[in-house]
Amino acid sequence: MRRKLAAGNWKMNGLGSALSELAAIAGCETRQTDLLICPPATLLGRAADTAAAGSCAIGGQDCHARESGAHTGDISAAMLADAGASHVLVGHSERRSDHGESDADVCAKTTAAWAAGLTAVLCLGESLAQRRSGDTLAVIGAQLAGSLPDGANGDNTVIAYEPIWAIGSGLIPEMAQIAEVHDFLRRALVERLGDDGDRIRLLYGGSVKPGNATEIFAVSNVDGALVGGASLKAADFKAIVAALDAA
Ligand code: 13P
Repeated sequence: MRRKLAAGNWKMNGLGSALSELAAIAGCETRQTDLLICPPATLLGRAADTAAAGSCAIGGQDCHARESGAHTGDISAAMLADAGASHVLVGHSERRSDHGESDADVCAKTTAAWAAGLTAVLCLGESLAQRRSGDTLAVIGAQLAGSLPDGANGDNTVIAYEPIWAIGSGLIPEMAQIAEVHDFLRRALVERLGDDGDRIRLLYGGSVKPGNATEIFAVSNVDGALVGGASLKAADFKAIVAALDAA
C-alpha cells in the first residue's frame, strides 16, 4: 500500500553537463517505484524542465524556515516550489553538522516545506559513537520527536534513516540493524499518527549501491532508498531502481 521511492541526493555535485544523467534517470521505465532527484539549487529550474519529459520528481536539498526576508544565500520553500520542486530534504546530517541545525530548526523547516506545498524528506541518523554506546534507538526517537511537526502524513512526509557513519563510507549496517531502526520508526509513527503514520514512507540511506540494494530492499519497513554517490550516474541509479522494482 506504500509506493516505493528511489531518491537521489546529488549534494554539492553537478554542473549543467550532469543534466544528461538526470534525463536518463527520468526516462527510466518503472511502474512500481516513484523517482526523486535532489540536484544542487543552481540546477533546480533546468532539472525540473529536464525531468518533466519523464517521470522523476525534483527536490531541493534544504530550505529556510521563513518564507522570505533578509537571509543572504538562503532559499525558501516557496522558491523551491516556484523553481519546479515538489520535495525538499530537511535535516540531512551534513546540514546538521556543517550548519549546526537542531531538531527545532528541522521541525520549523518541515513546517515551512508543507506550507509551500512540498513533501519534506526528513533525515535522521546516529553517529558511530552513538551506535557503539547502544544509544541508536534513543537518538533516532529523540530526533523524530523533535523534528517532525504534528500533521505529518504519507503525502507531506517521507522519512530517511541515514546512519552518519554509513554515508559515503562504503559501510552499511547489518540488515538486522536496519530492520531494528525501521521497525522502531514505524511503531513510533503509528503510535503518534495512527493510519497516517503507517502511510509515511521510510527510506534507508548510506552507501546504497547496485551491489547491496537487493538485500537492503528485502528488509521490513524499507520502502526505498535515499542515495548519494550512486545517484550521480544514471546507470547505477537505474540499477538501484530495478532492484527496488523487483523487491
Ligand atoms: P551515499 O549514498 O554517498 O553514502 O550518501 C548517502 C546520503 O547522504 C544521501 O542523502
